[in-house]
Amino acid sequence: MSSLQGSDVARAGRLLREGGVVAFGTETVYGLGADAFNTNAVARVFDVKNRPKFDPLIVHIAERSWLSRLTNEVPDIAEKLIDRFWPGPLTVIFPKIRAVPDLVTSGLPTVAVRMPDHPLAVQLIEAAGTPIAAPSANPFGRLSPTCAEHVAEQLGGQIDYILDGGPCRVGVESTVVQVDDHRVGILRHGGITVEQLEEVIGRVVDGQTVVASGPAESPGMLPQHYAPSTRLKVVDDLAAWATSESKVGLLSLQPPEDSTRFAVIEVLSPSGNLVEAAANFFSALRRLDAAAVDLIIAKPFPEAGLGRALNDRIQRASVRA
Ligand code: TXA
Ligand code: MG
Repeated sequence: MSSLQGSDVARAGRLLREGGVVAFGTETVYGLGADAFNTNAVARVFDVKNRPKFDPLIVHIAERSWLSRLTNEVPDIAEKLIDRFWPGPLTVIFPKIRAVPDLVTSGLPTVAVRMPDHPLAVQLIEAAGTPIAAPSANPFGRLSPTCAEHVAEQLGGQIDYILDGGPCRVGVESTVVQVDDHRVGILRHGGITVEQLEEVIGRVVDGQTVVASGPAESPGMLPQHYAPSTRLKVVDDLAAWATSESKVGLLSLQPPEDSTRFAVIEVLSPSGNLVEAAANFFSALRRLDAAAVDLIIAKPFPEAGLGRALNDRIQRASVRA
């Protein structure tokens, strides 16, 4: 392990304060962080990721009171969601105050904020003493990293430090929501499920409390994303599916009925548990990508709970640029 990777929170915090770029583990995926108020540092994050400037970043805070450094409008519904889900994998969009750099928000009048549920990440943000803008720590459009080694493989050498928080517990990115006085719209499915959101905000009869797939108000929700280098295809009915490819890898929640057709099989949860599946998802996809198969087949997940976030990821991974 290089000295650029470790668990030295004080060092990582100092680097962030000085305008450095530091990858760190969260409960969802690894983030690539910079001081949200230092535009040079934030610009480096975009450069390292090769991320288009139209795709805004999530700002990470260490405690609820830091929200006032970013917004002065917290609607009641947002307050409820924060009470229930922070710290945790829920990102909420707020109207931004002027101090938040346009580079962070891609010129939008809003800022995305979350408080991670990972002790080392929170200690890091506290040590930095400033809100941290952090996209996932992968090159733009590629597989998200769920352990320090994934970051080292993809971005090592280009960043100042990797704070090793171990494997990510949740394994998929945060759920991104936009709220107004009456409704919650989901811009990205993620670690907090629709069912969990509805427990807090209830349902209304005359319209949707939750808009399951919101309007395209999230610039980063590009059709192609989370992609392995190997071609990936989503197949509903494996029994009816035929291919001429000689080496095919399978990504599946549970073991397939006919395993003889696949050179490599990644089962995400033998018992069909979606929480376990999400935690294994990106690592399994990486192993398939490294297995030199001609094609990766992904079987859709049940459209409930974390299955929605996983289906979203495989759909986007299957779109070729
Ligand atoms: O779990 C996560 O959210 C991870 C960890 C590191 O916190 N971060 C993450 O960031 O997934 P990123 O950059 O890969 O995805 C952020 C998403 C993008 O789809 C972006 O377009 C959207 O959030 N977003 C950011 N700011 C927004 C805003 N002001 N309005 C709408 N969408 C926004
Ligand atoms: Mg990302």
